[in-house]
Amino acid sequence: MQPRPLISAQDIAARVAALGNEIAVRLPEGSFAAVGILRGAFVFMADLVRAIPRDVRCDFLGVRSYGAATETSGVVQITSDLRLPISGKHVLLVEDIVDTGLTLRYLLDLLQAQGPASLQVCTLLNKPSRRRVEVPLDFVGFEIPDRFVVGYGLDAAQKYRNLPYVAVVDE
Ligand code: IMP
Repeated sequence: MQPRPLISAQDIAARVAALGNEIAVRLPEGSFAAVGILRGAFVFMADLVRAIPRDVRCDFLGVRSYGAATETSGVVQITSDLRLPISGKHVLLVEDIVDTGLTLRYLLDLLQAQGPASLQVCTLLNKPSRRRVEVPLDFVGFEIPDRFVVGYGLDAAQKYRNLPYVAVVDE
């Protein structure tokens, strides 16, 4: 079934530009590391860092979460670790979507244990109605209803990551 557009490429571009400026103003002075969560955040990360008029170092964390096709179990496996040390650095975690919050909770605990100077979160999408654990979200692109979405990096069984907009897949 064809995904139905939910957030257009134009609306995403406008929101990403605004987020970039907001991040540039609100993150502590000096350089910081943006950490993109692979694979879902790769498109968002690429656009976001180019919208931040500041010195940004880029790193990535590869994760795989177990569970049913459209739901995470919160058990996260790190498939590719950070290359740059984050101890004493300001860090911005860049996520595609926060759903139950279980994945983000795990990643925040993991990164916090490495002693960053500060740790903030930017997510493109937020599904607050599905939250199972409290997670701090410092920057949110869009709040969306409880629908499974694809595109702009997000997938359904590895499909649709290259759609330039966010779309709903009807189950
Ligand atoms: P959480 O642990 O339930 O918050 O889920 C986070 C991860 O599940 C995200 O980083 C995505 O990889 C995946 N996910 C959750 N909802 C969706 C969706 O609607 N579309 C695609 N992936 C999703």
